[in-house]
Order: sequence, then C-alpha cells, then structure tokens
Amino acid sequence: MLRLTSVSHTYSGQRRRSAVLNGITYSFERGTFYTILGPSGSGKTTLLSLASGLDTPTKGTISFEGRDLRELGLGRYRNRHAATVFQSYNLLTYMTALQNVTAAMEITGVKPASGSRRAHALELLERIGLDKATATRNVLRLSGGQQQRVAIARALACDVDILFADEPTGNLDEDTAQGIIDTFRELAHEQGKCVVVVTHSQQLAAQSDRILVLRKGKLSQQAKAR
Ligand SMILES: Nc1ncnc2c1ncn2[C@@H]1O[C@H](COP(=O)(O)OP(=O)(O)O)[C@@H](O)[C@H]1O
Ligand SMILES: [Mg+2]
Repeated sequence: MLRLTSVSHTYSGQRRRSAVLNGITYSFERGTFYTILGPSGSGKTTLLSLASGLDTPTKGTISFEGRDLRELGLGRYRNRHAATVFQSYNLLTYMTALQNVTAAMEITGVKPASGSRRAHALELLERIGLDKATATRNVLRLSGGQQQRVAIARALACDVDILFADEPTGNLDEDTAQGIIDTFRELAHEQGKCVVVVTHSQQLAAQSDRILVLRKGKLSQQAKAR
C-alpha cells in the first residue's frame, strides 16, 4: 500500500557526507502492525516524516497505492490517508483535549457513522483512558502521559488508512502503554489499517507483526524471537 523505493535523505547544511537515510526500499501493507527500532539519531523520525508526507526525500520515491505522493499531493495524502502522532504531541494548547480531537475531525471532514463528532471524540478518549472530566480540561492542565493519549485519540479520530506514531508510549506507565498497544493491534487486525510505530520498547515491538531496524541509513527486518 505504501511503498518506499530507493529512498535517501540528507538534510541541507548537514556537515557529514553520509545521508541520514541511504537507499531504503520497503513496502508497508494494510492489516499489519509494524514497529521500527533503532539507536537515537538513526533517522527514525526522519523516516516517519517522509512516509507521512511532511517532507520529500532528497532521492527516491514514496508512493501510496501506486501513486507518487508528490503527484497525489502531500497535503491531500496527509488529510485523507495518513495520520501521525508526533513525539512532541503538537496539541493546540488553547483548547481542551476534547476540542483537539473534534477540531482534527472538522479539518479532515470526518463524520462518525453514528452520533456527533463530540460523542465520537469522547468515546475515543474514553477508550484510551481519558474520562470526560479530563477530556474537557485544557490540555496544558494534563500530564505528559495524558497529553500523549490526546495526541493518539486525535490521530485515531481521522479515519485514515495509515497511522504513524513516534515513540507513543514513552511517557506512559505499563498498563496505559499496554492499552495503547492493544488499540494499535486492533486497528491493524480488525480494521485493516497499516500501523507504523517508532519505539524503544521491546515490550511493544514484541507485540507487533513486523519488527524493522533502522541502522546506518538502512532498514532491515528483524526475525522475530520466539
Ligand atoms: N531538521 C533537521 N535538520 C538537520 N538535521 C536534522 C534535522 N532533523 C534531524 N536531523 C539529523 O538527522 C539525524 C537523524 O535524526 P532523527 O530522524 O531525529 O533520528 P531519530 O528519530 O532516530 O533519533 C540526526 O543526526 C539529526 O541530528
Ligand atoms: Mg526521533
């Protein structure tokens, strides 16, 4: 569904000659939950920003259902097909948790199958462990872990084909992290989404369908330990 072909990326002004990403070819499919591991600075966030259409690679192509993202339009791709949970959450800080989720639904034009956007947003927030009292507080009054969950609920609210997340369980306790992993698995296996998660957590990686490792600009698939 999402194909990277000979993708390389170098940041302009970068002193070292080696590219952050160096000739990556890989296909991500529906119904599959992927995790990406790799040392800090190996280019995991860069890879997600290219795959989610926030930036274009310096070399190579990325295509969604056979169409080059540049031809499809990066804005259109991000709006209709891909959602991202950023490492820094990127929440709108003058809004409540609930408003952050409903605003995303309004921007992308998502209408829930039944009920209002507000009701659907509350249900998503509840499912991810934020009750109504918490959801209606300004996001700056929430803990880091709670803000992270708002960012995840916001991404889930946009009914997209691919969900990207950059270290989404980093600030969460074990139970909450497990709840989010269960949600990712369900999205992939029951709703047929493609879920791509960057993580340092072996607990999370062990529960994904495919473990990918990014190292020295190359992406390789790790055989799963049994
Ligand atoms: N916007 C940028 N401009 C210049 N260099 C960058 C930029 N973003 C990341 N880098 C560099 O690219 C490399 C990979 O960064 P990143 O993708 O954030 O790695 P990771 O997420 O695996 O820690 C690092 O050396 C980082 O300093
Ligand atoms: Mg990173």
